[in-house]
Amino acid sequence: MGDSIKKNPLQLAREYETLHKKDADPERQMFHITPMVGWMNDPNGFSIYKGEYHLFYQYYPYKVEWGPTHWGHAKTNDFIKWEFLPCALAPEHEYESNGCFSGSAIELEDGRQLLLYTGGCKGVDEKGRPDQDLQHQCAAIGDGIDFVKLENNPIINVEDIPEGGNWLDFRDPKIYKEDGRYIVLLANRPDDGSGRVLMYESEDGLNWKYMGILDECHNEYGKIWECPDFFLLDGKWVLLGSPQEMQTDGLEFHPGYGTLTIIGDYDKENLKFTREHLHAIDYGTDFYAPQTLETEDGRRIMIAWMMNWTNVSFKMPDIHYFSAMTLPRELHVRDGRLYQEPVKELDNYRVASAYHKDVTVCEETSFDDVKGRYIDMTVSVKPEDDYKVFELQIAKNDRFHTSVIYDREKGTVMVDRSESGVRFDIVQKREFYVSDLGGEIKFRAIIDKDSMELFVNDGAQTCTGVIYTDLDIDGISFKADANVKIDVECHTINVE
Ligand code: FRU
Repeated sequence: MGDSIKKNPLQLAREYETLHKKDADPERQMFHITPMVGWMNDPNGFSIYKGEYHLFYQYYPYKVEWGPTHWGHAKTNDFIKWEFLPCALAPEHEYESNGCFSGSAIELEDGRQLLLYTGGCKGVDEKGRPDQDLQHQCAAIGDGIDFVKLENNPIINVEDIPEGGNWLDFRDPKIYKEDGRYIVLLANRPDDGSGRVLMYESEDGLNWKYMGILDECHNEYGKIWECPDFFLLDGKWVLLGSPQEMQTDGLEFHPGYGTLTIIGDYDKENLKFTREHLHAIDYGTDFYAPQTLETEDGRRIMIAWMMNWTNVSFKMPDIHYFSAMTLPRELHVRDGRLYQEPVKELDNYRVASAYHKDVTVCEETSFDDVKGRYIDMTVSVKPEDDYKVFELQIAKNDRFHTSVIYDREKGTVMVDRSESGVRFDIVQKREFYVSDLGGEIKFRAIIDKDSMELFVNDGAQTCTGVIYTDLDIDGISFKADANVKIDVECHTINVE
């Protein structure tokens, strides 16, 4: 009898998780969150609920491929050690039959947790074309574990899109609270085929009214800006987005799925955002769709998908889960730039440390105690002679390595994984400009098994990527074309 009762998709997903999650997995990154099982893309609902940090994620438990997305769920007290919670949302209704797409979360006044997400389903679009993939916004309310979808979903409908917006690209609600009301940002595609960020307001988080357009792309920086986020930081307003179909712009933007920081001023009364500075969020091969929260002690923390749509078909064999999030990063605005640094909580997990000070380096040099594949390493370089190139190599043996190359004349840093052992013909190198500090440069590399997050000059630039090197290859070396002096600090991380 029990078997003849059709199980609902959420129950199925939770049962699948119980059966297929693996507790011990030597391949899994140690201090970056990976999905419980199956596929993961964007971070969703990164927020505080009852004093703990919650993270949901775009999730398809059954395969290591994208499928009609569910919301995976985890929580943490310190951004480093995560506890998985059962799958939070699964597509159950007609209005979300294409998936429960990206969105956000907030604790309501009455202590309940509100999830806002995009539902996708077939319908007639704004031009009267039938059988189109429409998108609209839905809500679910819960207690931190179980969520009930609203009877009247979708709560922001395609009819609520202002004139000239298409009904197929209307997604990724990011909620925040301001002056006693809720605001939500949404990505939408206007008639010119590009992107814009819409704003809606609400007294209760459930009934929404259109406010206006925060910013528009006019086909200038890619097309639709997926997963927008907007916040006040260090006296400036920051708009983050992940544009599709970017085109090359010097070394600042690469083609394809990119990331965009816009720093400016915002006149709330007149809903007028004035751009002042604009740059990529991260220059690496594998970074997309970041989302932020504000901690109780006032820090703005960002987490992103440590992958990019361009690279998702390149996977190692026999994996039972795919992709990871970046380390949560603390953000600041300084001199018209977004600075990023790993959360300070990482320091609590240092189990061994090596320090080398004022070492003169020219020929390739390494230290017995500076190596590893789960480390937090800082290298500060100062000129001794008039050097032009400094190179750091990680995950290195005689055959393989990933390089970080500072070209002082060009004023660039290049990360190159082409000799990492990678077997896929994917983008291997990324190069970006850094400030001229008279030959001084500082790198902080966070390496967690198959990833490296590089923070340059205290986070003025970051470059995030997956590396495809066997885990027992753990050497590190330093070299330059003339004498430089380096300080190295290398901490082994262990969260187990
Ligand atoms: C960004 C994105 C979102 C969408 C989700 C679907 O990576 O395309 O715009 O909501 O992924 O999984």
